[in-house]
Amino acid sequence: MIALTKSSREPARQATFLFPETIECRQRRNAFRRRRTTEPVGNSYFSGAGLFDLGLRRGGVRIQQSFELDETCCATLRRNFTHDVVQTDLSHALAKHSRECDFMAFTHPCTKYSPVANLHQTRTGDDLYLHALRQTVLKRPEVYVHENVPGMKKFAVVMEAITELPDYYVTVFCPVQACTWLPQKRDRLIAFGSRRPFAWRPPEQSRAVTLQEILDESPDVQIPDYVYHRLRGQYRDRPIISDPLSGDLAPTCVAHYGQDMSTRLVRDVRFPEGVRPYTVREYARLQGVPVDFEFSGTTAQQYRQIGNGVAVPVGEWAGREIRRYFAA
Ligand SMILES: C[S@@+](CC[C@H](N)C(=O)[O-])C[C@H]1O[C@@H](n2cnc3c(N)ncnc32)[C@H](O)[C@@H]1O
Repeated sequence: MIALTKSSREPARQATFLFPETIECRQRRNAFRRRRTTEPVGNSYFSGAGLFDLGLRRGGVRIQQSFELDETCCATLRRNFTHDVVQTDLSHALAKHSRECDFMAFTHPCTKYSPVANLHQTRTGDDLYLHALRQTVLKRPEVYVHENVPGMKKFAVVMEAITELPDYYVTVFCPVQACTWLPQKRDRLIAFGSRRPFAWRPPEQSRAVTLQEILDESPDVQIPDYVYHRLRGQYRDRPIISDPLSGDLAPTCVAHYGQDMSTRLVRDVRFPEGVRPYTVREYARLQGVPVDFEFSGTTAQQYRQIGNGVAVPVGEWAGREIRRYFAA
């Protein structure tokens, strides 16, 4: 179920004193907005392999720049998109070096907010959201969208920064469930901020793809010995085994799957013990990634990019909503 909360503020009065650079920025922004055609144009920050970008694109908006630190992710982005990919550390990147845009999309790393981080005593919050905030305040796009894990709600300072920015009306959807479209349990938080009030719509339930439908016909997967060790109870937890014939959903795709494939297995009677890990391509399909999307890097890096990604239909829904906003 989608819990919808809305926090809105009256836009603050315009400042009467402006520094020369601010005037110049405003002129550039206004010129950009006059040039804009019907297709809203956005910049994506912390873009990873571009799964969210792909979804947004499919939803009918254009991405013109992606900002990402990791070299392999940038290689994947360049392989699949023609837009500008900037390899940079966003905690050092100046906002004036990014292009004017209608909307900004942020997917800052969520590792510090997830329950597993709690186990490792690292659940302390993260300051990368401040750089998202810095970019937003300096560029003042018409719309911004943040994607993260529901656990972020526990971080009041992060939520305040994202949802109470003056001049923006903010709507938060949580949880947005990947199983609305895909055979994966994955809940996320999506926040839309806009300069005008707008009735953002939640995702609509559709016929979700089944686990059976995303499996390879002839899966080519090596099964490491540790998979059998976990099956025999030699680790603290047993694997999560999903059965496509029982209509099961796969658990959340995690980024470190390439390092330990024993935690998530799929039932497949053609393999010893009747189970096996997911192939990279199956993992990608669990996230709604189309077959022609190519990942760079080693197998472990490919699993990482997929596990870190935003399920493509989530981006598609967000893209459609952003498009609807600009058409209104
Ligand atoms: C949640 S993932 C993004 C997923 C992506 N939106 C997708 O859907 O494929 C977060 C990304 O932030 C990147 N990142 C982490 N720290 C960064 C920094 N300081 N500057 C830029 N990117 C950073 C990571 O390399 C990772 O790819």
